[in-house]
Amino acid sequence: MSGTSLDGIDVAIVDITGSGFKAKINVLTSHSVPYPKKIREALLAVSNSSAFTGDISRLNFVLGELYAEALEETAERANIPLDSIKLIGCHGQTIFHEGQGGQYLGKRVASTFQIGESSVISERTGINVISNFRECDMAAGGKGAPLVPYLDYMLIRHRGRGRVAVNIGGIANLTAIPPNTSTDRVIAFDTGPGNMVIDQLVTRITQGNQTYDRDGAMAAAGEVDPKLLAKLLRDKYFRAKPPKTAGREQYGSEFVSKLLDTELSSEDLIATATALTAESIAAAVRNFVLPEMRVDEVFVSGGGTHNPVLMRMLRKALDPIPVKYTSEVGLDVDAKEAVAFALMAYETAHSRPSNVPTATGAKRAVVLGKLTQNGTTARNGSASANSSGNAALNGVNRNGSGTATHKVKAPRVQKVSRPPAAPKAKAAAR
Ligand SMILES: Nc1ncnc2c1ncn2[C@@H]1O[C@H](COP(=O)(O)OP(=O)(O)O)[C@@H](O)[C@H]1O
Ligand SMILES: [Mg+2]
Repeated sequence: MSGTSLDGIDVAIVDITGSGFKAKINVLTSHSVPYPKKIREALLAVSNSSAFTGDISRLNFVLGELYAEALEETAERANIPLDSIKLIGCHGQTIFHEGQGGQYLGKRVASTFQIGESSVISERTGINVISNFRECDMAAGGKGAPLVPYLDYMLIRHRGRGRVAVNIGGIANLTAIPPNTSTDRVIAFDTGPGNMVIDQLVTRITQGNQTYDRDGAMAAAGEVDPKLLAKLLRDKYFRAKPPKTAGREQYGSEFVSKLLDTELSSEDLIATATALTAESIAAAVRNFVLPEMRVDEVFVSGGGTHNPVLMRMLRKALDPIPVKYTSEVGLDVDAKEAVAFALMAYETAHSRPSNVPTATGAKRAVVLGKLTQNGTTARNGSASANSSGNAALNGVNRNGSGTATHKVKAPRVQKVSRPPAAPKAKAAAR
């Protein structure tokens, strides 16, 4: 997984068995590999901008190489043989996303574009790849996001408690799950900015020497400006009813340029941007979740959880609802989204849908993603055809009843400390 923060690649290697909502998910290891500075800059240059198509094409292939390397590095660190991995789910890097859509050349079009060439990943690793998850949901009338609610529902739902999962990446999103419910009562949407505005302010203020407010140090040195905060919170995005998605389109360079055009000190500005993230998440819970269900606890994940000032503000804004980390339900805060795409790839390999229509607005639940099949799948002994004559996905039986069968000796599960601005990028299901 690579998120909108453009900070790098998050890899999770996951053992999944069983089917549907009873599947067992065991995260063997996870690791984040930051993008080199030049890659980050090149991605920023082609994200939601008018860019040279040649640059996009080249970056697509370069990212394929980086994703393959990130997986190899992750597997090696945890002593997991690459050939024990049955399937890769790769979200790729979003460079454009227009979930809502509009009129274009006489047609109503919503579209999305993730890069990181799956053919390269598959060729380098020898593993089948499922990629391009969002397009299938959008073709079915959905906004293509958020897709992580499928995993949230699997892992966070509770018989007696109303729970909300909040991921604070570049953009912040939530999944609210009433007690003892099916997926059709799940509420999920992007609440607005996560770290994106803070990151851009810090990058511009430090002229690129820092790309994020490490441990909230700059925000801690400033004070929130209540007037500016109130003005920012009046934005129509926060009032719009879910389902809704946000991205660099709303909170990119234009938004940040306007913010920089104030009299506030850099520290006060960053403190105010941090409060905007916390307050808009809490407002989303108050305005769109609490009227529908009780909320007993909130589980947070994503890079924003490493910012203590943001976490303090969020706790205060959500008080008295307790704010916990997803690690309390067995999901490393930095690995959640990568695990989600491993799970979705697994479901796709079994021809099962994994979008949550109430979250994306799709007309129906659809099987997500496209398969890039590696020609050398037989090399690790997995069958190339199952009993019904269908091609098998590198050992993952397509008939829906099977599971990834090949097991290796349990590796040492490493708790990986996150390098500076490390992030989310690719998932491998096995
Ligand atoms: N130690 C830290 N202090 C403050 N912010 C952090 C820290 N570590 C990570 N972050 C923030 O988390 C972001 C990455 O979050 P991530 O969940 O990977 O987002 P995305 O999914 O959009 O890539 C970084 O850009 C940074 O803003
Ligand atoms: Mg990231």
